[in-house]
Amino acid sequence: MARVVIFGAGDIARLAHFYFSRDSPHEIAAFTVDGAFAKTERFQDLPLVPLEELTRRYPPGEFAMFVALSYARMNRLRAEKFEAARALGYELVSYVSSRCSYLTDEPPGENCFILEDNTVQPFVRIGHDVTLWSGNHIGHDSVIEDHCFISSHVVVSGHCRIAPYCFIGVNATLRNGITVARSTLIGAGAVVMEDTVAEGVYVPQRAQRIARKSGEVDL
Ligand SMILES: CC(C)(COP(=O)(O)OP(=O)(O)OC[C@H]1O[C@@H](n2cnc3c(N)ncnc32)[C@H](O)[C@@H]1OP(=O)(O)O)[C@@H](O)C(=O)NCCC(=O)NCCS
Repeated sequence: MARVVIFGAGDIARLAHFYFSRDSPHEIAAFTVDGAFAKTERFQDLPLVPLEELTRRYPPGEFAMFVALSYARMNRLRAEKFEAARALGYELVSYVSSRCSYLTDEPPGENCFILEDNTVQPFVRIGHDVTLWSGNHIGHDSVIEDHCFISSHVVVSGHCRIAPYCFIGVNATLRNGITVARSTLIGAGAVVMEDTVAEGVYVPQRAQRIARKSGEVDL
């Protein structure tokens, strides 16, 4: 059990507070953001502390941290704050939902955020600072490297490798055995059948409106 300071004061920080408080052994003690962004002194009824004052008021030996940021700049912003927290001497905790089927013996790295209804199959390895939003399938023997964000209802088939800094949009599907190269952006609903190219963007065909009214179509 750790007393934890959350970095962030946005949606993800609010959700991290919710999940850690209700479904983890950890206690949230405060929030922190860079001083320039600290517009109020409280957030979620807890102190909001400028990062510049954090080590004095919430020292690393007594408090751990969790960086609660989204996928901005292809996860680079979260990675930068993750490294900054480590450089200040903080241990970073991870959250794994009690409602997730976490079946691999390998624990996730630091600062992971693994929400409800994920299925993480045997022999999967998950690096540092990985977000698995709700409801993904991570197939056996797959590896998810550091600083990736996998949104929701993504199917990662077995034996895939997802390199650092990738973003995978909702409902995407990855064929078994492929490598998703560093900083790949896979759009919502894409079906990816072969290795990707680093920094590539992959999108599927979008739904198209046809020239009929709904009442004119047999359901
Ligand atoms: C891939 C993605 C980021 C593209 O974003 P976008 O806002 O739709 O991008 P834009 O509309 O600015 O499109 C950029 C270009 O790609 C093209 N494009 C985007 N999606 C396309 C698609 N599905 N098919 C064909 N072309 C597409 C656009 O036409 C545009 O081309 P142009 O610059 O020549 O006009 C977006 O479609 C997506 O999947 N986002 C992830 C959503 C998601 O999973 N969110 C979960 C958050 S937890």
